[in-house]
Amino acid sequence: MSSIDYAEKIPNNVNLQNDRTLQRALEHWQPRFLQWWHEMGPADFESANVYLRTAISVDAQGWAHYGTLRMPDYRWGIFLADPVADRRIGFGDQMGQPVWQQVPGEYRSTLRRLIVTQGDTEPASVEQQRMLGHTCPSLYDLRNLFQINVEEGRHLWAMVYLLHAYFGRDGREEAEELLARHSGDENKPRILTTFNEPMLDWLSLFCFTYFTDRDGKYQLKSFAESAFDPLSRTCRFMLTEEAHHMFVGETGISRVVKRTLEVMKELGTDDPARIRARSAIDLPTLQKYLNFWCSSSLDLFGSEISSNSASNFASGMKGRPDETTYDDHVLRDKTMKLGTPEGEQEVPMLNALNEVMRESYLKDCEIGLKRWNRMIERAGHAFRLTLPSSRFRRSIGPWAGVPVDTHGKMIDRAEYERCLEDWIPSERDRSFVGSLMKRVIEPGKMAAWIAPPERGINNLAIEHEYVNLH
Ligand SMILES: [Fe+2]
Ligand SMILES: [Fe+2]
Repeated sequence: MSSIDYAEKIPNNVNLQNDRTLQRALEHWQPRFLQWWHEMGPADFESANVYLRTAISVDAQGWAHYGTLRMPDYRWGIFLADPVADRRIGFGDQMGQPVWQQVPGEYRSTLRRLIVTQGDTEPASVEQQRMLGHTCPSLYDLRNLFQINVEEGRHLWAMVYLLHAYFGRDGREEAEELLARHSGDENKPRILTTFNEPMLDWLSLFCFTYFTDRDGKYQLKSFAESAFDPLSRTCRFMLTEEAHHMFVGETGISRVVKRTLEVMKELGTDDPARIRARSAIDLPTLQKYLNFWCSSSLDLFGSEISSNSASNFASGMKGRPDETTYDDHVLRDKTMKLGTPEGEQEVPMLNALNEVMRESYLKDCEIGLKRWNRMIERAGHAFRLTLPSSRFRRSIGPWAGVPVDTHGKMIDRAEYERCLEDWIPSERDRSFVGSLMKRVIEPGKMAAWIAPPERGINNLAIEHEYVNLH
């Protein structure tokens, strides 16, 4: 197993010191990254001491080392999962042939675009979250936010390594651009819409890490199947980091639900106004946040019918998540029925792979919903949280711009416009949630709208001082 060399300026397990040109190019990019972190990373927390985990090896058992450090001193580096001996292409028209250690010329621009699009989301999320430290509900949560931020920074490194190592001058230029675009920037926005949405409160953060980081998981899983082996190995290691981000989302929402149920019990009511008066988030408001972030994240899978998805699969560039669990890996003579506003359409399966991925993603999203609904049911309430239909509020694909309710039923446009503020957070909802965002930094204390976690980080107490702000 390859170990990570921390004596190097850029920690890595890819023998960077044996490739001086690449090493120099990345060492040239490194100060730019640090400058970006300084300008666009968690604002005003550069001197805070944070209890962070750092990768020390790439195997699944105990890869992490925990310690207290300042975020700018985090050892961002290049870590690939170990190679699989004699790995073969697992799907598409070249199935069974050896995987690629270099980029085949005919796939070069497509692969570069896929890597750049993935890479762009990583720093984008750090930029979106940069002000949240000021309103943390606890030191435990503050530390989790920062852990996610440094890891998304490392995910940027993961993609920049591929661009530098395999795409020559174009790749180096793209690596510069990844630091030049910014979330929400009018002139140079991030590539994907979800990553330009403002994130002003922690309820949005928990929904984002639940839904949008989960989209990340699905993208990484499909790249882990790729015939381009360095991409596969890079993404396999990123997935081990990604799990924590979704944990933060799922447990964050659980704790919101738990706290709300406590307040409902104390007050003996489910009246949103009275729950809000006690500084808790009523369940209908939570539902609106789920609707917003889920529908936004569904667009990230792309159009239901897509010739790109077909060629990416057929060529071996991008598989389905958990490709081995399917029977047919070529899909040349399969079709799929898709619902469109014009009625049902039968399309070649290869062209419907975005939808296949979106459906398995939605199934994965259900897991948290079940858990939260069990809590609500056990507390004796009839209310149930749900996922919106995958046709709701879409801006990509055949359902883009079609007025559809959260159950997927086509409705009159005027009615849609009128109801929208019952389905996604209104200005009033956002300002109410915003009013709850007051910073709590006494060790072990929680803001009024969220219950404490079940346990601390790495077996430490919940009261541990996870971030020392001096
Ligand atoms: Fe990431
Ligand atoms: Fe993530």
